[in-house]
Amino acid sequence: MSHRTLRADNLVAYYSVDTPVLKGASLQIRPARRLALLGANGSGKSTLLSCLAGSTQPKSGTVLVDGEPLRYTRRGLRDHRQAVQLVLQDPNDQLFSADVAQDVSFGPTNLGLPPTEVRERVSEALDLLGLEHLRRKPTHHLSYGEKKRVAIAGALAMQPCVLLLDEPTAGLDPQGVDEMVEAVISLERHDTTIVIATHDVAFALEWADDAAVMCDGAVTTGDPRNLLGNEALLSSARLKQPWSLRLANALSERGMVPANSRPRTVEEMTRLLCGEHAEMIL
Ligand SMILES: Nc1ncnc2c1ncn2[C@@H]1O[C@H](COP(=O)(O)OP(=O)(O)OP(=O)(O)O)[C@@H](O)[C@H]1O
Ligand SMILES: [Mg+2]
Repeated sequence: MSHRTLRADNLVAYYSVDTPVLKGASLQIRPARRLALLGANGSGKSTLLSCLAGSTQPKSGTVLVDGEPLRYTRRGLRDHRQAVQLVLQDPNDQLFSADVAQDVSFGPTNLGLPPTEVRERVSEALDLLGLEHLRRKPTHHLSYGEKKRVAIAGALAMQPCVLLLDEPTAGLDPQGVDEMVEAVISLERHDTTIVIATHDVAFALEWADDAAVMCDGAVTTGDPRNLLGNEALLSSARLKQPWSLRLANALSERGMVPANSRPRTVEEMTRLLCGEHAEMIL
């Protein structure tokens, strides 16, 4: 796997002509960086990811990999899917084989890879997602969280340069969320650039290098601290500031912490509040 730059340029997409979902959406996914895609229900996150993956063809605009426009031919889409994989929001839309190992092997087998390489890729993907013990389990007997992990393993077995994850933590219990985040972080060690669509602003602030907020069919991108501290933008996108930024803001208005303090993590918040004593607590 090597890093590639994936870009959406001025995409327009609609399901019915009178209500466009994307109205000139542009997004640059920079290699080896983590991007969080945020926005209200129905704002078009899944549609944008689907366009980036080549599963939906926009009415106008261009999807580019390393500056090369995606070609919507059989060959062009096949090449694109080797570089870019999308894991759907609902794993029930993604899994269809009889058992876990078969499902994860579907993509690599379809690429025509030799059986030994398919087996290696499947084992590696199952191992990374902590699924080895479920290898022979029928997919319809899996829990929701297990299904989500299997869907990611299937995409990973394609060894994509860019992995687009549509709400990977939605519907998981708190420990399941932590395990999913850990699994996602371990994927980065394999040189995969990761994009996550999410409603979880605290997670986006802590995890992402870049943030993108969808509103009214367009995308605003920037540093997560700036974007997630922008009350006006968040409110028009029906999002809320993460609690850490709200608290830091309230404290800085009262002169209790320096202006523009924007802690992303519990550690940063502890250092902000406890100064030199933070190390005793952390
Ligand atoms: N296959 C489809 N046919 C018709 N309309 C669709 C289809 N898929 C999505 N839409 C509509 O497009 C709009 C954007 O949907 P999309 O799923 O991209 O939003 P989203 O930001 O991913 O929402 P959520 O946060 O709920 O997942 C919505 O109004 C939705 O009803
Ligand atoms: Mg969605």
